Amino acid sequence: MKKKLPLVVLISGSGSNLQAIIDGTNSDLPVEIRAVISNKTEAYGLERARQAGIETRVLDHTQFDGRDSYDLALGDIIEEYQPGLVILAGFMRILTPSLVKRFHGRMYNIHPSLLPKFRGLHTHERAIEAGETVHGASVHFVTEELDGGPLVMQTKVPVMPEDSPDTLAARVLKREHLIYPAAIKLFAEGSVKMEGDTVYHNGRPLESPILLETEKAT
Ligand code: GRF
Repeated sequence: MKKKLPLVVLISGSGSNLQAIIDGTNSDLPVEIRAVISNKTEAYGLERARQAGIETRVLDHTQFDGRDSYDLALGDIIEEYQPGLVILAGFMRILTPSLVKRFHGRMYNIHPSLLPKFRGLHTHERAIEAGETVHGASVHFVTEELDGGPLVMQTKVPVMPEDSPDTLAARVLKREHLIYPAAIKLFAEGSVKMEGDTVYHNGRPLESPILLETEKAT
């Protein structure tokens, strides 16, 4: 059997993206989730991890003086598990540059917009307000720039005239559950990597993100 890529997944909430990755490990995703770490005790994703028999850790940010000490402790916990890739899956904290540097080229984030559009929060509301007809989600390597690291994969979702932020968010989230495991698989197989700040796909610099097919408008 081929060696599986060790992952550590960071969450703060529901963990539906974590679930998609767990489900992937039961089919064709060649990864092993060594630990799920949350900054919040009540994150439902911790329960998902427990049910899948995955080790969980909570590192409560309210118990720390500031970002530097928190991120130092967080980085140390992550390293205990020697992950090949660290997965931010709804981890609702801004990371310090030193933590980001520590995992350069081996940390992924998923963001619910077609980056570089709508970095930060409330992306669905902002996409509707801006009159976008197409919205989506992006997987990118994490760099010091918030939601600004080099893109790996995107998926597009049409914005319907009747969409509310919630209905749009729900459709985007369904697509997130497809692109996150897909993007992780490419890294696990060695066909995607980042060197410096350049993403390579099959040995060539990736000019634009790999696109997962567009959801059909119904
Ligand atoms: C997702 O929309 C993700 O893109 C964003 O936070 C949300 C997390 O959802 N970063 P879940 O916890 O994976 O259900």
